[in-house]
Amino acid sequence: MCGIVGYIGDRPATEVCVAGLRRLEYRGYDSAGIAVAENGGLEIVKVVGKLDGLAEALAENPLSGTMGIGHTRWATHGKPSEVNSHPHTSMDGRIAVVHNGIIENYADLRDSLQEEGYEFASETDTEVIAHLVDKYYKGDLAAAFRRAVKDLEGAFALGIVCADDPDQMVAARRFSPLVVGIGDGENFIASDMGAVREWTDRVYVIDDDEMAVLTRHDIVLTDLDGNPIEHEPYQIPWPADAAEKGGHKHFMHKEIHEQPSAMRECLLGRLTDADSPIKLDGLNMTEDEIRGLRKIVFTACGTAYHAGLVGRFLMEKLARVPAECDLAAELRARDPVVLEDTLAIVVSQSGETADTLVALRELKDKGAKVVSVVNTVDSSIARESDGVVYIQAGPEIGVASTKAYTLQLLTLTMMATHFAAVRGTANEEDLRDLRASMLGVPEQTQELIDREDDIREVASKYYEAPDAFYLARGVNVPSALEGALKLKEISYIHAEGYSAGEMKHGPIALIEPNLFTVAIAVEGEVYEKMIGNIQEVKARSGPVVAVAMDGDAEITRQADDVLWIPECPELISPITAAIPLQLLAYHISDMLGREIDQPRNLAKTVTVE
Ligand code: M6R
Repeated sequence: MCGIVGYIGDRPATEVCVAGLRRLEYRGYDSAGIAVAENGGLEIVKVVGKLDGLAEALAENPLSGTMGIGHTRWATHGKPSEVNSHPHTSMDGRIAVVHNGIIENYADLRDSLQEEGYEFASETDTEVIAHLVDKYYKGDLAAAFRRAVKDLEGAFALGIVCADDPDQMVAARRFSPLVVGIGDGENFIASDMGAVREWTDRVYVIDDDEMAVLTRHDIVLTDLDGNPIEHEPYQIPWPADAAEKGGHKHFMHKEIHEQPSAMRECLLGRLTDADSPIKLDGLNMTEDEIRGLRKIVFTACGTAYHAGLVGRFLMEKLARVPAECDLAAELRARDPVVLEDTLAIVVSQSGETADTLVALRELKDKGAKVVSVVNTVDSSIARESDGVVYIQAGPEIGVASTKAYTLQLLTLTMMATHFAAVRGTANEEDLRDLRASMLGVPEQTQELIDREDDIREVASKYYEAPDAFYLARGVNVPSALEGALKLKEISYIHAEGYSAGEMKHGPIALIEPNLFTVAIAVEGEVYEKMIGNIQEVKARSGPVVAVAMDGDAEITRQADDVLWIPECPELISPITAAIPLQLLAYHISDMLGREIDQPRNLAKTVTVE
């Protein structure tokens, strides 16, 4: 993981780099560091822990240099410590490197560099790059880097500066994301466009095995052999303040509250009224292709995987296509059978998750057509797919995914409804009902957010519990998995999501008064069975919080507390049920005083396998 930034211009580089790193802290926050060209050398400042520490250190010892690179780290090789923090330098301190990714052959490179007399200061894989560039440096940083990169195996987004050339910065990418921000008399590099949006709305999105040489007034893009390449500048579509907290205590809270408007954006131009067909620009599939589908394979990680599980359910139920959903990290191991006319649907908020990208490539190699459901425009997953349906959520900064999840669900529900209509596999009245319900989802979500005080009240009863179960059946099993993931990742309360049908096969042994159960019991095919499961938990003295639909009198007799959601078709309920589960996890974690936007050990975007 990790985030990198770089600046060359006429402002103090520390200001730009620290502000850029704040936007990238979601990528890791084990340590932070910066290198600035100053007084003929490179000044390096590093701190263990979050960026605030770096900002404080720089406030005490300000640097005025106008070219610099910065880094925020999620530790992979070597524990979080000052010596392992980036930037890493050559032995004489004149070349500095920031890196996101993993150099897979670093141990071999380190051994041979050591034989040549290079001494290593850190335990990281990155340090070999600084020594390699130094080894090949003969007065031309870009040439030295091009030579050094031939020795590297693995993934990297890199920013490199050299004290001997304070008017040039080199950046390159293989497998880890990188953009170059285009300024006026100043230029930028960063792991994502959000980090440079404060200063520019135009970027080059760098592809694998490409590099950029930046000066204050110029950006030269080449491949790693130095052959010129051209990219059209990409216009960032959101305003500079889109990634601010806007009065909310946490980004996660802001992002939960943004869901109604984000959903409207997501529906815009795709679903206009219940009687008209859904239009999904970017899907890039003909009606014949949709009709001819023999199999759909979903793949994703974490929350996006839970969205994929809902997608699988809907595609089978509505479009009658055999569907599977794999954890991206496990897909290759299974060596899935890809039949002719197999569609792969790849789900990712960031579009940069390494496991998901690897799974995408595997499915493509096996002959599947790949459509991705992605938030980050022009991300690696988006660019490598045959079709892309953007979820239109805007920047999601909180590590816990919230608005991206509900928008992934909304997008997948539109896709399944569209496929069913084209394939003629579902009753037209049911499809009309689904389309009408989807149009009502933004308003229902707003209603749910307006009930936040009730949810905070429920949170206050359970926030000290050590364990929780989340149970559901049918289309809401992924809601239980997602509810449990939300709670555990930000509160550190141990939480398990289960199909309620599995309870009797083992987990019910754990029920006792200190463990609370969240049971998703919405009206529909599995409601009665869920009531049975709630009774089984209650009979063993386990407290139950139900998620149920407004007007359900029965549930108030069964559960200790109820999180109410507005009435909707069962197939739509994973979207609305997610809202109280997000708010419950949020308020429990806030009551526990957790670092909600940056939970321990996590990073927002996992760009290593
Ligand atoms: O960017 P992606 O959607 O590919 O990320 C996948 C997971 O890493 C992500 O959903 C993760 O599980 C979140 N922290 C969950 O809140």
